[in-house]
Amino acid sequence: MLTKVIVDAKVIGQKMLSQDVRQIDFLAPEIARQALPGQFVNVQTSTHTAPLLRRPLGVANVDPEKGVLTLIYRIIGEATHILADACTGDRISIIGPLGHGFDLQAKKPLLIGGGLGLAPLVYLAKNFCPNPVEILMGGRTKKELFWMDIFEDLCEAIHITTDDGSLGAEGTVLALLPELLQKGGYDCIYVCGPEPMMKAVVEVAAKFEVPCQISLEKYMACGLGACLSCSCGGVHKRLKVCTDGPVFWAQEVKEW
Ligand SMILES: Cc1cc2nc3c(=O)[nH]c(=O)nc-3n(C[C@H](O)[C@H](O)[C@H](O)COP(=O)(O)OP(=O)(O)OC[C@H]3O[C@@H](n4cnc5c(N)ncnc54)[C@H](O)[C@@H]3O)c2cc1C
Ligand code: FES
Repeated sequence: MLTKVIVDAKVIGQKMLSQDVRQIDFLAPEIARQALPGQFVNVQTSTHTAPLLRRPLGVANVDPEKGVLTLIYRIIGEATHILADACTGDRISIIGPLGHGFDLQAKKPLLIGGGLGLAPLVYLAKNFCPNPVEILMGGRTKKELFWMDIFEDLCEAIHITTDDGSLGAEGTVLALLPELLQKGGYDCIYVCGPEPMMKAVVEVAAKFEVPCQISLEKYMACGLGACLSCSCGGVHKRLKVCTDGPVFWAQEVKEW
């Protein structure tokens, strides 16, 4: 059984993946040993009063033997700016692993991601190795697709789209998805990224009758199921993204 823990995780490295995206590695053995692909952690970026709320970040990778937890984040506001200033040796309070992750039964998965939605797909792809995994990733321009280097060793095929056509097919992931689903024989789609992209993928997946798992992002306060700030409409009841998700089967969610 998974146990949530709160730890003062030691920063052991931080690297720049692009101008505004960082990878941060923590020594957090209790979390690294338990976290499953699709789960997230809640990070406290301040020891003072602001920002008050912890920030949810998906588990991008773990090394259970070394006790390393890896997160990949975009610097956008107060908390992520503070995180970007963290140095090796600093300690940061982290609660995790939280939520429930992906169902991992697929034999021929297609991973689909855009933006920072690609972060949790790294650990997911690693989990399927050495079985063949394919990924379809979309970005605005070639510059955003530094992810190729990360997925290169984890995936047997990488399909790329960019809005401006600077790399791969021009357009969104929808430019390639129907053709891939026609020929690919995938038994499950795993999608994480901007909401409009995920909604469009869910529609196409339904047309081709391929089961689809979605990883939702909602504004979160407690991350523990207590405050209802992350709720969304399920088919039978309101769902809390932090505890019922963040990963759902597409058909479980009707309003997001
Ligand atoms: C389950 C989950 C997993 C996530 N995984 C990642 C990840 O792997 N990498 C990554 O870069 N980002 C991830 N995010 C988004 C991340 O939480 C926000 O980017 C971060 O909280 C921004 O904080 P900030 O103080 O820097 O920016 P702020 O200026 O506070 O906010 C900027 C924007 O970030 C979002 N945000 C702010 N606070 C929260 C919050 N408490 N909960 C959810 N969203 C918030 C809102 O859209 C807001 O408009 C995830 C969110 C969720 C819910
Ligand atoms: S964040 Fe509080 S219930 Fe989900």
